[in-house]
Amino acid sequence: MTDAATGPAIDAVSDWQRLACDSVLLDGFHALKHAVRFGARIPVAVTTDRRKTLDLAAALAPDVRDTLDALLTEVPATTYTSLVPRPHPTAVAALAVRPSREANLEALARTPRTAPVVVLDNPRNLGNAGAVIRLAAGFGVTGVVMTGTLDPWHPTVVRAGAGLHFATAVERLAVAELPSGPVFALDPEGDDIRALKIPDDAVLAFGSERSGLSPDLRARGDHLVSLPMRPQVSSYNLATSVAMTLYHWSVTGGRAF
Ligand SMILES: C[S@@+](CC[C@H](N)C(=O)[O-])C[C@H]1O[C@@H](n2cnc3c(N)ncnc32)[C@H](O)[C@@H]1O
Repeated sequence: MTDAATGPAIDAVSDWQRLACDSVLLDGFHALKHAVRFGARIPVAVTTDRRKTLDLAAALAPDVRDTLDALLTEVPATTYTSLVPRPHPTAVAALAVRPSREANLEALARTPRTAPVVVLDNPRNLGNAGAVIRLAAGFGVTGVVMTGTLDPWHPTVVRAGAGLHFATAVERLAVAELPSGPVFALDPEGDDIRALKIPDDAVLAFGSERSGLSPDLRARGDHLVSLPMRPQVSSYNLATSVAMTLYHWSVTGGRAF
């Protein structure tokens, strides 16, 4: 495409500018693909090369190719780079509507629950938060709740989550507002997880990278649970702890895919 935006590209840019501050940025082909698969509402999507993007979809994700064909507007490379904070190697970006807090709270409160809720207690690292949302989507968990000040919909978290925020209910809540269900609080001092079955309605709580579980979350916990770890190692990374715990849930009776 030439350097000047014309016709549909001008319309896409004006939609983008109108919607950007209230929308979720889907950064790159894979984030857009996941968001489409999990039913996100996407009012505008751009690429610098429609043919190349649709060929990529045909090769990697044929299930979304026709939807992308209808959604994508080709824009000049200079326009694309002016719309996104950090250009992505696939030169694809889109804006999605963030699910309402009410809808997420309803999903988190729904019983009987068929898969756990993951709670990150005051997480600090945006990349960890995104990796946990990706894990939660992969294991089909009910939702990911974060306490504290980190915004679970921060663009860096969405980027690390690969567009999978739309596959689970992602919300920030106070400890006092956590969904019902037995709370399994993960801590290296707890009882060995290998002796336990994690029920589908469990609330699985993980501490902050800096200081572990807060006193409030410890007080709310029904079980303090540890992951196997050799002496002299202090702790695992937060996201890897969530991965091991969800894997344990999946092999002790969790949902089969
Ligand atoms: C990086 S660790 C926190 C380390 C922190 N310095 C502390 O004092 O606990 C982040 C969280 O991962 C989980 N975690 C890490 N290693 C674990 C283990 N061996 N058993 C259970 N949970 C673990 C806990 O929930 C922990 O709060």
